[in-house]
Amino acid sequence: MTKELDVRVIQAAVRRKFAEAAHSAEGKFKYPTGRAGAIALGYDPSVVRDMPDELLESFCGVGNPFSLGPLNPGEVILDVGCGAGFDLIVASRFIGPSGRVCGIDLTPEMVERAQMNLRRAGVSNGAVHLAGSEAIPYDDSTFDVVISNGVLNLSPLKERSFQEIYRVLKPNGRLQFADIVLKLDLPAGMINSLEAWSD
Ligand SMILES: C[S@@+](CC[C@H](N)C(=O)[O-])C[C@H]1O[C@@H](n2cnc3c(N)ncnc32)[C@H](O)[C@@H]1O
Repeated sequence: MTKELDVRVIQAAVRRKFAEAAHSAEGKFKYPTGRAGAIALGYDPSVVRDMPDELLESFCGVGNPFSLGPLNPGEVILDVGCGAGFDLIVASRFIGPSGRVCGIDLTPEMVERAQMNLRRAGVSNGAVHLAGSEAIPYDDSTFDVVISNGVLNLSPLKERSFQEIYRVLKPNGRLQFADIVLKLDLPAGMINSLEAWSD
């Protein structure tokens, strides 16, 4: 597919889609988003209940990376494709003040939204940067855990993204990600559809 669709063209289409979702994800995806999405995906109900609307309205994850295991106090976490930062806020509660949460995202509007949401949530040990999974702007062996939610399916360079994730993970670090996988071949009309890439 990437032979036919240029990487930059795909990334531009992905950015357009998520620039809109940075204001609100409501009605923009084929799956539940925002507070309803977080409840459906099994996030801790008390965390979701207490979270103000503005911190949840752009959440568009497809699973729950924390269902794969808890994070520990003091750990250093990277969220690849952090969107508006909901998982960073949840992660910050696991790791406490002695840990650190970092996010990267391809879409400038999502990065701004995540930075604002971290401030609003009082997360002072967090940072969010504009970057793609294909070139992660951190040194080798920086993170105890990499999380990601609904992102790697969007990268036209998946193998390079996984190489980058493994590079920045410490030895024995963990990768906890949720994503979409294809079980059947795509219908012919969808194979070259930019819209279908980030539906
Ligand atoms: C489905 S949303 C999920 C956002 C967030 N993880 C959440 O759970 O709300 C996908 C996010 O990944 C970002 N994204 C897409 N491709 C990316 C890539 N190659 N590297 C980093 N971020 C990417 C988009 O800008 C968008 O914010």
